[in-house]
Amino acid sequence: MTSEQKIQVLIVDDIPETRENIRKLLQFENDINVIGLARTGHEGIELAKELKPDVILMDINMPDIDGITATEEIKRQVPASQIVILSVQSDPNYMRRAMLAGARDYLTKPPTVDELISAIRRAGVMAQAEIAKTSQPIPKQKIVSGSNSYTSGMMSYGKIITVYSPKGGTGCTTLATNIAVTLNNDDTSVLLVDSNLQFGDVAIFLNEQGKFSVIDLTSRADELDPEVVDSVLIKHSKSGVKILAAPYRPEHAENVTAEEFTKILRYLRQLYSYVIVDTSSTLTDVTLAAIDASDVVILITTQDIPAIKNARLFLDVSEALGIEQQRLLFVMNRYDKRIGITPEKVSENFKQSISAVIPLEDRIVVPSVNRGLPFMLGDMSKPVAKALLSLVEAIRERLAEISEQQEPELAIRNIGG
Ligand SMILES: Nc1ncnc2c1ncn2[C@@H]1O[C@H](COP(=O)(O)OP(=O)(O)OP(=O)(O)O)[C@@H](O)[C@H]1O
Ligand SMILES: [Mg+2]
Repeated sequence: MTSEQKIQVLIVDDIPETRENIRKLLQFENDINVIGLARTGHEGIELAKELKPDVILMDINMPDIDGITATEEIKRQVPASQIVILSVQSDPNYMRRAMLAGARDYLTKPPTVDELISAIRRAGVMAQAEIAKTSQPIPKQKIVSGSNSYTSGMMSYGKIITVYSPKGGTGCTTLATNIAVTLNNDDTSVLLVDSNLQFGDVAIFLNEQGKFSVIDLTSRADELDPEVVDSVLIKHSKSGVKILAAPYRPEHAENVTAEEFTKILRYLRQLYSYVIVDTSSTLTDVTLAAIDASDVVILITTQDIPAIKNARLFLDVSEALGIEQQRLLFVMNRYDKRIGITPEKVSENFKQSISAVIPLEDRIVVPSVNRGLPFMLGDMSKPVAKALLSLVEAIRERLAEISEQQEPELAIRNIGG
C-alpha cells in the first residue's frame, strides 16, 4: 500500500500527551497514516484546508474555538474530510450538536484501540466515497449547514417530514419523536404533529400533556396567527420540541378534514424549520394529506412478513399517490441480525434502497417509551442512537439534494402550494 492509498489522518487536540498517544497507537496500522497534528481548533481548520486529510480526529474542548465549531467550519471548507469527535463529555447534547455540525462519528475518551481504528476505517471509506462523488469542487452554496438545512430560492420555509408505515406498531412514533428531538436545537425549531387522530400517542411518548390539540387549529384553519398557534402547542420540557397533539378523544377525529389539515401544515412550516408528522397506519385522507404536503416521506418496515407485504403494497401504489422516488426514504426498524430477512434482501427484492437500518434494542427503546423520554436524549453511544443519527443525516442529505435540484419557481410553488 503506498502512502497515498492509506487513510490520511489529522489529529486535533490541545493536550500534547493525547496527540502523541493517538499517533503512537495508529503507527502500527498499515492502512493508516497520521499526516498532521494540530493543537487548537484554528490550527485544525488551517491544517485541514492545507492537507485535506481523509479523517480528522477532533477533540471538543479546546482553548480557542471548540471542536464543534471547528467541525462546522471544516465541513464547509473541506467537505470530503470525515470528522470523528473524541470527547470526555458524555453529555448527549454535545454529541448531538457534534453530529449535526457534520461529524461522522464520535468516541468517548479514552477510546479502545479497536474502537478508534474501526471508526477511522469507517470514516476513511466515507471520505473516499465523498471524494469520488465530488471530483468537481462543490460550490459553496450547495453545502448544507447543520443548523439550517432549509433554504430555497428567495424564501425559506421549513421542511415537512412525514413518518409512515402501512403496518401498525413498526415504530413510526418512536422514530418520529427521536428524529424531532435530534433535529431540534437553538437555531433549528422543530414541531412534531400527531396526525394519528384517533389513537395518537406523541404527547405520551414525550411525557407531556396539554389542554389543546390539532382540532383547535383545524377549526381555525383560515384565521391562524402565530399567537393562536403558540397557545395550542405543547412544549416538550426536556428538548424544547413543540408538539401539536392529537385530539384527546377518538370520536373527535372526524372533526378534522384533509383540507384543513393541509392548510395548517402549510401555515406551520412558515413558523418551524422542521415539521415532523407522525401518522397512523391507515391511509386516511389526513394521512394522505400529510404525505402529499411532505418534502420527504419516511416509509418504515420491519422484518416481519406482514409489514414487508404492506410496504410492498404501499410502494406499488406510491407512484399513483404522487410520491416521487426522490421524496421517499425507506427505513428498516427493529432490525434483528438473527433473522434471515436482511435489509439487503428486502432492498434487492423491492428494487428500493434502504436509507437507514435501526436495530432492535428492546432494553433501550421500550423503557424510553415507557418513561416518555426519547432515547436520543440519553446515551448516544448505543447502536440504536447511532443508527438514528445516520437516519437524520440521510434525511438532511436528501433534503439538500431536492433543494439543489428544484428550480426556484418550482420550489416556491411546491412550498406555497
Ligand atoms: N428499534 C426498536 N427496538 C426495540 N423496540 C422498538 C424499536 N422501535 C420501536 N420499538 C417498540 O415498538 C413498539 C411500537 O412502536 P411505536 O408505537 O413507535 O410504533 P407505531 O408504528 O407508531 O405504532 P402505531 O401503529 O400504534 O402508531 C413500542 O413499544 C416501541 O418501544
Ligand atoms: Mg404511532
